[in-house]
Amino acid sequence: MKIKKFLLVFILLFTFNSQTSFADEAKMIKGLEIFNEVAGCAACHVLKAAGSEGNIGPNLDTVEGLNYDSVMDIVTHGLGVMPAFGEDEILTKEEIDIVSFYVANSVGK
Ligand code: HEC
Repeated sequence: MKIKKFLLVFILLFTFNSQTSFADEAKMIKGLEIFNEVAGCAACHVLKAAGSEGNIGPNLDTVEGLNYDSVMDIVTHGLGVMPAFGEDEILTKEEIDIVSFYVANSVGK
């Protein structure tokens, strides 16, 4: 119980002190989970940072010029055999935002 309270205070302090980076860190953790487990991007794509080895789609580490907007666009609308996660409501808008942020900040790492 005491430890939990301490953790809570720590998290709150940390959040107030460095709001942006804490939020970014949380997004990266959640994004990894969506990539590997919720959306199953990992089944079709190589992404070294996520430890994924799918080879149905392109290796995301070697796609030129991937950024937040381009990932967001393709995840929302799909392409070829890649599902339209947004249009078909497989993921929520928030999840798409998070996984796009994650991928854009993970490629080539
Ligand atoms: C069923 C397999 C499959 C799943 C699941 C899948 N993709 Fe894809 N993805 C593909 C294929 C195939 C392509 C290439 C489509 C084409 O060019 O016709 C692609 C293309 C892409 C591209 C564009 C790459 C480029 O060349 O510009 C990105 C970015 C991408 N996927 C990210 C994701 C993310 C993020 C997820 C999870 C939310 C995901 N994909 C889930 C199969 C998949």
